[in-house]
Amino acid sequence: GVKIVTIGGGSSYTPELMEGFIKRYDELPIREIWLVDIEAGKEKLEIVGTMAQRMWDASPYDVKIHMTLDRREALKDADFVTTQFRVGLLNARVKDERIPFSYGMLGQETNGAGGMFKAFRTIPVILEIVEDMKELCPNAWLVNFTNPSGMVTEAVVRYGKWDRVMGLCNVPVMATMTEPKALGVEKEDLIYKFAGLNHFHWHKVADKKGNDVTYKVIDAMFDKDAGLPKNIHDIPFYREQLEQMGMIPCGYHRYYYREEEMLEHGLEEFNGVGTRAQQVKETEAELFELYKDPNLDHKPEQLQKRGGAYYSDAACETIAAIYANKDTQIVVSTKNNGAVPDLPADCVVEVTAYVGAQGARNVAFGELPTAEKGWLQVMKAMELLTIEAAVTGDYGTALQAFTINPLIRSGNTAKRIMDELFIAHKKHLPQF
Ligand code: NAD
Ligand code: G6P
Ligand code: MN
Repeated sequence: GVKIVTIGGGSSYTPELMEGFIKRYDELPIREIWLVDIEAGKEKLEIVGTMAQRMWDASPYDVKIHMTLDRREALKDADFVTTQFRVGLLNARVKDERIPFSYGMLGQETNGAGGMFKAFRTIPVILEIVEDMKELCPNAWLVNFTNPSGMVTEAVVRYGKWDRVMGLCNVPVMATMTEPKALGVEKEDLIYKFAGLNHFHWHKVADKKGNDVTYKVIDAMFDKDAGLPKNIHDIPFYREQLEQMGMIPCGYHRYYYREEEMLEHGLEEFNGVGTRAQQVKETEAELFELYKDPNLDHKPEQLQKRGGAYYSDAACETIAAIYANKDTQIVVSTKNNGAVPDLPADCVVEVTAYVGAQGARNVAFGELPTAEKGWLQVMKAMELLTIEAAVTGDYGTALQAFTINPLIRSGNTAKRIMDELFIAHKKHLPQF
C-alpha cells in the first residue's frame, strides 16, 4: 500500500484531498495518510484530521489517518509527500495583502509584493523538507501545492537539487472543465496546450484534427463565467488583445493586462469588506465549525467558496499517474527542457505534460508572441531573484526582485512597502 504524507495537514483543503484519494482508490491503493502540522495549527489539524478519518470510515476502504507535529516521524518511508502549508497562516496573508494596498499598490498573495514575501517565508521551509526527504524517503515524489507554487517548485529543483517534484495549480483544471462545456463538446474532443509560469500561463486549444479552435473558445467564453477561481474579480480582457495573441490568458493575467481596474477593485475591498484574506478567514471559520460536526463525513459544499476548488483533481491525478505510470496529460510546474524556448531549459515552467512513473514529459509549446515573451522573461527573472533572495537573505537582491515585478512601481513607496513587510513578517524570516 501507498504511504502519503501531507504537510500543512490542518488546511481546510484536506477534505478536498481526501475526496480525491477516495475517488481514485482503485488505481491508487493507499495504506496510510500522515497529516503533518505545527504547534500553531494543532487545533485545526485535530479537527480536520478527525473529519478526514470519518470520510475514510464512510468509504469502503480501510485507510488510517495519522496526525502529527513531528514531520520526520511522518516522512519515514513515504511514497508521496504533498505540501499545502502556509507559513504564518492566514494572518500572514492579511499582511501580504493589506500592506501593499495601504500604499495604493496591488496586494496579491501570489503575484504581487505579498507573493514575494510568501516565497521568502516558504522557501526555507520547503528546502528543509527536501533535506528530510533525502534522508527519510529518498524515492518519494514531492507534489507541491504551496504557493507561490511555481517559485516554490523552482527552489526545490534549483537549490534543493531535487528533481522528483511536481508543482500544481487548480487554474488549468478549471479551464479544461469549463471551456468544453461552453463549446458544447466533451473534454476529450479538445487538445490543450498550456505554457508559461504558475499563475502566468496561457493556453491554446485545438480540435481532434489539430485545427486551432482557440478563437471559438474565446467567443464562447467571452463575457461569461470564465471558469475563474472564486478569488479573482472578473474584469474581461480586451478582445483585440486576445485576438492579437491568439491564446487564452489565465485568470491571474487580469492583474497584468487590466492592472488599473484590478487595483481599483482591490482598493475598494481593502477599504470596504476587507481583502480576500479577510474574507477567506470567515469562510475558514465556517468550514471548521462544519468539520467539528461528528456526523459530517463528506466534503461540504461550502469549500467551493475557496479559490482552490478542484485542487484534488490536479493533486490526486498527478499522484495516481505517477504511481500507475498512466502517462496522463496534466499541467504541472516542472523543468522546462525546451518546451518553452523563450526561457532557459533548466528553469521551471508551467506546462502541459504527460505524467507517468518517470515524471513529466513536456509537450513542446514553441515560441510565444512578442508581448507575451517579454512578460514571461521579466516574470521569470523576478521569480529567480525572489528565490535567490529567499535563500541568501540578501536585501539588495530582494529590492531588485521588487523593482522588476510588473505589479510594483519602483521607488520610495516600493521600498517602504518592502521594509514594512520585512518588519511585519520578521519572525518568519530568520534568513534576512
Ligand atoms: P492555511 O493558512 O490553512 O495553512 C495550512 C496549514 O499549514 C495550517 O494548518 C498551518 O498551521 C500549516 N503550517 C504552517 N507552517 C507550517 C510548517 N512549517 N510545517 C507544516 N505545516 C505548517 O492555508 P490554506 O489557505 O489552507 O492554504 C494552504 C496552502 O495551499 C497555501 O500555501 C496556499 O497558497 C496553497 N494553495 C495553493 C493552491 C494552488 O493552486 N496551488 C490553491 C489553494 C491553496
Ligand atoms: C486559486 C489559485 C490558488 C490560490 C487560490 C486562492 O485557486 O490557483 O493558487 O491559492 O485561488 O484561493 P482563496 O480562497 O485562498 O483566496
Ligand atoms: Mn494556483
